[in-house]
Amino acid sequence: MTENINNNTEKKRILSGIQPSGALTLGNYVGALRNFVELQEEGLYESFYMIADLHSITVRQEPKNLRKNTMDLLALFIACGLDPKKDPIFFQSHIPAHLQLSWVLTCNTYMGELSRMTQFKDKSRKHENNINAGLFTYPSLMAADILLYQADLVPVGEDQRQHLELTRDLANRFNNLYSETFKIPEAYTPKVGARIMSLQDPTQKMSKSDPNENSYILLLDPIDKAVKKIKRAVTDSEACVKRGEGKDGVMNLMSIYSAATNKSFDEIELEFEGKGYGDFKAAVAEAVAYTLKPIQERYNDLMKNKDYLEEVYKESAARASYVANKTLSKVYRKVGFVQP
Ligand code: TRP
Repeated sequence: MTENINNNTEKKRILSGIQPSGALTLGNYVGALRNFVELQEEGLYESFYMIADLHSITVRQEPKNLRKNTMDLLALFIACGLDPKKDPIFFQSHIPAHLQLSWVLTCNTYMGELSRMTQFKDKSRKHENNINAGLFTYPSLMAADILLYQADLVPVGEDQRQHLELTRDLANRFNNLYSETFKIPEAYTPKVGARIMSLQDPTQKMSKSDPNENSYILLLDPIDKAVKKIKRAVTDSEACVKRGEGKDGVMNLMSIYSAATNKSFDEIELEFEGKGYGDFKAAVAEAVAYTLKPIQERYNDLMKNKDYLEEVYKESAARASYVANKTLSKVYRKVGFVQP
């Protein structure tokens, strides 16, 4: 009755998508990339890492920046410890199946559903002069990204939950209309997901789109610059390294220190008992430098080896397309397209 829509390995599948819309921050590393590496080392899942360049052009991009950001992201994934031999890391635009499935899904997505997407409303407000149709149909493309790989799990932040919910609705709708075709994906919430906040306003998430440069640390920030940003981070007047009301700034630095050293908050409080913020910030800065340095070294080596990067994205695209095309041809057959 139900067709086999499982992959042939027993492992559950994860599809991760990340847009190449700028440099990665320490927050991206701690909140996402580091978890990807840990997941890969555990080896319990089969993962697909997609760099979502098609999504990026829903807002205006400078072509040479887009190209650089896309390659940078690939190099950074590897520099942070992902092994492309284990799981493919590919560019979305290299696999036409994403767009092909996205069209079929778009024809099964209601205007009303897309109009309710809060990200569409936010982005329309931010890009008043470029409210394009792609920005509107973006969630159908994202659904295609996920459903093509029959993903069981999708790591998504709060801002993408609504899109994942729509993906599930579209998958169910298609399965009900045309028979069982897609796996219904679920959100994946990593065990350790420290959220790193802005260094200047610790009630806001650390973000590269913040106009204040001092609020975020980029993975590729020169070390001395990163150190300065830590030293300038906002704290409070209590001069005491511990958790507490009104101590968001200090707690954020504690999260960063904890992420970099694996020390618990209790251990950190003990370590800095009786010490001031000067000592604490110096230690955080050193720990951050220690984290960034090997990543930057590997990144620099990779950027000198374009042939290797090209080999990675080509091989990855080949592996990913194989899976994607299998799903796509089923879909094409089920909707009634004549086999080519
Ligand atoms: N829309 C996601 C973002 O902006 C990126 C993305 C595209 C994605 N396709 C995806 C994330 C598929 C998860 C799964 O962050």
